[in-house]
Amino acid sequence: MELPYIEPYKTKMVESINRSTVEQRKAWIEEAGYNLFKLSSDQVMIDLLTDSGTGAMSDKQWAEIMLGDESYAGSSSFIKLASTVKQLTGFEYFIPTHQGRAAENVLFSALVKEGDLIPGNSHFDTTKGHIEFRKATAVDCTIDEAFDTSVYHPFKGNLDIQKLEHTIRSNTKKKIPFVLITVTCNSSGGQPVSMQNIRDVHAVCKQYQIPLYFDSARFAENAYFIKLREKGYEHKSIIEIVREMFSYGDGMTMSAKKDGIVNMGGFIALKSLEIYRECITYNIMYEGFVTYGGMSGRDMGALAQGLNEAVTLDYLESRINQVHYLGQRLVEFGVPVQQPFGGHAIYLDADKFVPTIPKGEYRAQALAIELYTVAGIRGVEIGTILADRDPATREDRYPKLELVRLAIPRRTYTQAHMEYVAVAIKKVYETRNEAKKGYYIKWEAPIMRHFTVELEKLS
Ligand code: F0G
Repeated sequence: MELPYIEPYKTKMVESINRSTVEQRKAWIEEAGYNLFKLSSDQVMIDLLTDSGTGAMSDKQWAEIMLGDESYAGSSSFIKLASTVKQLTGFEYFIPTHQGRAAENVLFSALVKEGDLIPGNSHFDTTKGHIEFRKATAVDCTIDEAFDTSVYHPFKGNLDIQKLEHTIRSNTKKKIPFVLITVTCNSSGGQPVSMQNIRDVHAVCKQYQIPLYFDSARFAENAYFIKLREKGYEHKSIIEIVREMFSYGDGMTMSAKKDGIVNMGGFIALKSLEIYRECITYNIMYEGFVTYGGMSGRDMGALAQGLNEAVTLDYLESRINQVHYLGQRLVEFGVPVQQPFGGHAIYLDADKFVPTIPKGEYRAQALAIELYTVAGIRGVEIGTILADRDPATREDRYPKLELVRLAIPRRTYTQAHMEYVAVAIKKVYETRNEAKKGYYIKWEAPIMRHFTVELEKLS
């Protein structure tokens, strides 16, 4: 008999969870305008809003905090981080930034111009935001299988090579400064991209002489899925896989708040000295001098250590197993979830969960609110509220999927917490047919409305 997996760490410090009642939560969420972003964290029992910057650092990372060198220029912490990134990714040039979107801002300032097209696999919101802000267009070339939650495909983050070639061929007048692969693909559910697909995209890029970049926030989780699911990689180490992935690229942006296992940080890594030189001017203007870019020395040291921990097999096995444990329990309970499970989150399919709530009444948001009220669990709507309005018609844009994301912070919650979440969702699922009414918007911001939107219950 095979023994079960265990978390490859034990607890040295604990943080208490503030328990609350259904009645208290009903009042709090009403006060928050039915917007989960507006709750204070002590009103939440299990916080699955995001896996970004919410992970637990290790003792060795905390030791790096004490070793931080806070020199303005050329600190030993910077040198440690730069050499770790180079060793892991193979990219020669390194620029620290304060988080992922800052890396996008700096890189895109150098590369993206008005009218450009940037094909990719379901660009993340901030990535798309930085593209659209420059009056360029993000073209989604993700494979169609990604948009059906019940279809099994081992690499739902893959780009459709035909869609990519079609985009390039039918836009010869437009500039395509680069193709962007997001690993894993957050917007399609934390789904991985296969090495074969990366190779194929690289071949297309080479043919048309277009650079290839990675949005690498969850690169280690992607590498683990390649090891697990792709033929020929089962005996390769995670580091070997990571290096091969990046060998096909010209550069990367990184939100270190995910697979860097730190609470804040990011960076750009590049092959070309020329692009590096263009970027550093923007980095100095927006982020800070090139050897800190918005991070403290101590944070850079902790990030170097976190990156090394994120590519260990023990860590990745327990990380992915924990997410899958939750997904598997939900499948056993018959709850509609996106399959296969993503690397960092489980997604509830609200269209199948609460079809009784009209689409125009924000059913995924209604489900997220119900889960919070019943059990104090905070997930996030990835549906119509997030998709925002059509800039031209100002009508709600209905996305292909109406989801509630339950993102699991790294090394933060235990198996018992996952069990609690699973059983709570089962409880909500059992009463799903009673849900008939959703919400309407009382107030919203002109863009990025989901963060601040105020809702009211329809009765
Ligand atoms: N790229 C991806 C794929 C992301 O998931 C994120 C952030 C970013 C870029 C931006 O990085 O937050 O450090 O500025 N995703 C978070 C999330 C916010 O909850 O999924 P950032």
